[in-house]
Amino acid sequence: MAKARTIHRCTECGATAARWLGRCASCGEWGTVVEEAAATARGEATPLPSPGEVAMPIAEVDPEGAPVRPTGVGELDRVLGGGLVAGSVTVLGGEPGIGKSTLLLQALSRMADGGTRCLLVSAEESREQVRRRAGRLGTLAPGLFIVSETSLPMVLAHAESHAPDVLALDSIQTVHDPDQQGAPGSVTQVRACAHRLVRLAKERGVTTLLVGHVTKEGTLAGPRTLEHIVDTVLSFDGERQHALRLLHALKHRFGPTHELGVFEMAEGGLVAVPDASALFLADRRPGAPGSVVAPVLEGARPLLVEVQALVAGDASEPPRRVGQGLDASRLTLLLAVLKQHARLAVGRADVFASVAGGVRVSDPGADLAVALAVASARRGTPVPSDTVVVGEVGLGGEIRQVGRTGRRLAEAARLGFTRALAPPSTPAARGIDVVGVADLGEALVAALGPVRQRHAA
Ligand code: TYD
Ligand code: MG
Repeated sequence: MAKARTIHRCTECGATAARWLGRCASCGEWGTVVEEAAATARGEATPLPSPGEVAMPIAEVDPEGAPVRPTGVGELDRVLGGGLVAGSVTVLGGEPGIGKSTLLLQALSRMADGGTRCLLVSAEESREQVRRRAGRLGTLAPGLFIVSETSLPMVLAHAESHAPDVLALDSIQTVHDPDQQGAPGSVTQVRACAHRLVRLAKERGVTTLLVGHVTKEGTLAGPRTLEHIVDTVLSFDGERQHALRLLHALKHRFGPTHELGVFEMAEGGLVAVPDASALFLADRRPGAPGSVVAPVLEGARPLLVEVQALVAGDASEPPRRVGQGLDASRLTLLLAVLKQHARLAVGRADVFASVAGGVRVSDPGADLAVALAVASARRGTPVPSDTVVVGEVGLGGEIRQVGRTGRRLAEAARLGFTRALAPPSTPAARGIDVVGVADLGEALVAALGPVRQRHAA
């Protein structure tokens, strides 16, 4: 008889190796490679196709496909492109405590209110705990059923007997398949459980929602390997200390992935934020040095954010470059460009830059704002409070065009800004003066005025 073979899998990235390694050859993480039975890998081979579906001429396929069911939570539906597709599997990922269970409960009760049969399987909290939360949220929809269960076969049995339209599991890391090796939450378990639930969803047309925890580093522990298995992966984030919560689609088989949902965590649960720009700018102190407003793009939605910088001390070794809500290596690069092409050096001072409100910005259109915030902080000169800035900063100090400047400037004009610094190729915009700046030097003069001569002491 053949000896049972084992393979080794990285719990971070899911890469496999023939033997155990101290460091994953794929993602470079240390100590993440664990042994896994090869039988599991065989079990994961493509399941036999269900006999229900037959090949048909392409022209006869209904282009509308499966119906879309709005969840009734507007911001969630916006991100999903209308709602949940029947029979689809969606992972809702996010750090612990960010509000995944709350969002799930609100969406389920809205759907249940609309006559959808919903079953919530709570594998983390008792029924009573969920009941108390639902009571506080005012979401005691009669059509919402709940069971507390952690064993996968039992979850499947409940789904079978209750026959819900929508099945929600909170969370995929806490269910356990006794036929599989590994502790709940291990890559093997998470994948195996997800595979079974996906099969159920496809065979029975059950719309399925799975909650998945991600770590602080942003890896969906397990759910990252789920990305290939499920139809949609949503990411729910924000800083826990701030009330703001942002919802993105990382993968979406049925629609765009660039829409952004904005919520605020309030006493009575998550509430939609209709005017996100106004919220992000609410606590701004106009006229303070080191503060610059930038219209960034989050999906299709333009958002105004305040970028702040602080240049402090002068002898740190090594000097600190800290970015909050923005990439610290991008900040370092912008400091180098400022020094090289705009003769603005921060020397060995510590530089902190952040995006106020807990938003994370990866849009290169915010480059110019970061650079000007640092320059403004360094000089102690404020950028005029009626001004927004947009543009990517090139390594040569040139200011480059970014996507959808028109929509960004329209949003700035809507919030009362009257002047925008932008690359010279920017078309004129209604309600706001566009000042073309070709490079960082020009941008510094336009934003902060000419360098004042140093007065003798
Ligand atoms: P929760 O949905 O349990 O987070 P997750 O499932 O992602 O771990 O919510 C986490 C936090 O939200 C919790 O610390 C308390 C807070 N919260 C509110 O502020 N208001 C509310 O109405 C609810 C239900 C929770
Ligand atoms: Mg939870």
